[in-house]
Amino acid sequence: VAVVSGVRIAVSASGVNRADLLQLAGDYRPPPGESAVPGLECAGTVQEDAGGAWAGGAPVAALLGSGGYGTIVEADPGLILDASGMDPLQAAALPEALGTAWWNLVGLADAQPGETVLVTGANSGVGHIAVQVAVELGLRPIAAVRGTRWDEELRALGAEHVVDVTSSDAGQALSRTAPEGVDIALDLVGAAVSGLVMPALRTDARWLVVGLLGGTSVELDLRDVIRRRLRIAGSSLRSLPAPTRRRIVAAIAEGLWPAARAGRIVARIDGAYDVGRQQEAHEHLARGGVLGKIVLTHGMEEQR
Ligand SMILES: NC(=O)c1ccc[n+]([C@@H]2O[C@H](COP(=O)([O-])OP(=O)(O)OC[C@H]3O[C@@H](n4cnc5c(N)ncnc54)[C@H](OP(=O)(O)O)[C@@H]3O)[C@@H](O)[C@H]2O)c1
Repeated sequence: VAVVSGVRIAVSASGVNRADLLQLAGDYRPPPGESAVPGLECAGTVQEDAGGAWAGGAPVAALLGSGGYGTIVEADPGLILDASGMDPLQAAALPEALGTAWWNLVGLADAQPGETVLVTGANSGVGHIAVQVAVELGLRPIAAVRGTRWDEELRALGAEHVVDVTSSDAGQALSRTAPEGVDIALDLVGAAVSGLVMPALRTDARWLVVGLLGGTSVELDLRDVIRRRLRIAGSSLRSLPAPTRRRIVAAIAEGLWPAARAGRIVARIDGAYDVGRQQEAHEHLARGGVLGKIVLTHGMEEQR
């Protein structure tokens, strides 16, 4: 284990992310020094803290580079969140999505209150949390998803509009919704939605490339980038330098975690499986059509 003065956590719940499936398929290697066991986030209780900041038994959540499906995990002390009084499933489901949403919207895009943000793949684990984070930051989220089945729930989470990307008039629907274009696209899908995203970006817009399940190659007229002063940014939360990841978790702890504790930001749990059934959990995620997060539990009662 790379961490030498970490916080050892007895894991009670682990968030499932697309990256776990990619890692197990050999397409997304953990950074050097990280465990081969998947899992980017977990909740549990402190067993031992070399730094002495956390008492034994303290309920915590952690952002991890890997290893979150394990029974015991050693976490970077700078990547721990206080989960006292929180449902462990919530605490396990939130760190990666909050970190991704915050880093992209605030860290990369410098989002300002009142700006519109188009969230593609808004039904996903990251997406449905990002919609709520946008509201918390005073932004105006528009959700883009495949189909219409999630409209009501995404509006309840704070989306001002929901666009069905499979509809032939998705572009017109979006321009009726945001006649001047959107300020920010938080793109969790990639190429498959670029035909919707690109024309919708207004002057000075930021296009945040986060997920690529919808393909990696797009055609781009660079004149648009100059004329509309577009900024395109991408990153992988897991691969950011450790100090940046610690800064993100500190910002979450201050700016977003209180909203999560107060129930204003809630992970919708689409399925909870005992860790022994992680294959089924992964099949559930891989099937698509999930609204929210899937979590693994360690010796807790299962819910579906
Ligand atoms: N760069 C980073 O730092 C970072 C961090 C976290 C996550 N991610 C990425 O963010 C994405 C979301 O991750 P997740 O674990 O929350 O959930 P996930 O299950 O991977 O979510 C995938 C989302 O993409 C949509 N999608 C897939 N193919 C599509 C297509 N061809 N056209 C339109 N939509 C499509 C899915 O819609 P359906 O439900 O309709 O299939 C779903 O909303 C993943 O790609 C993940 O790798 C990146």
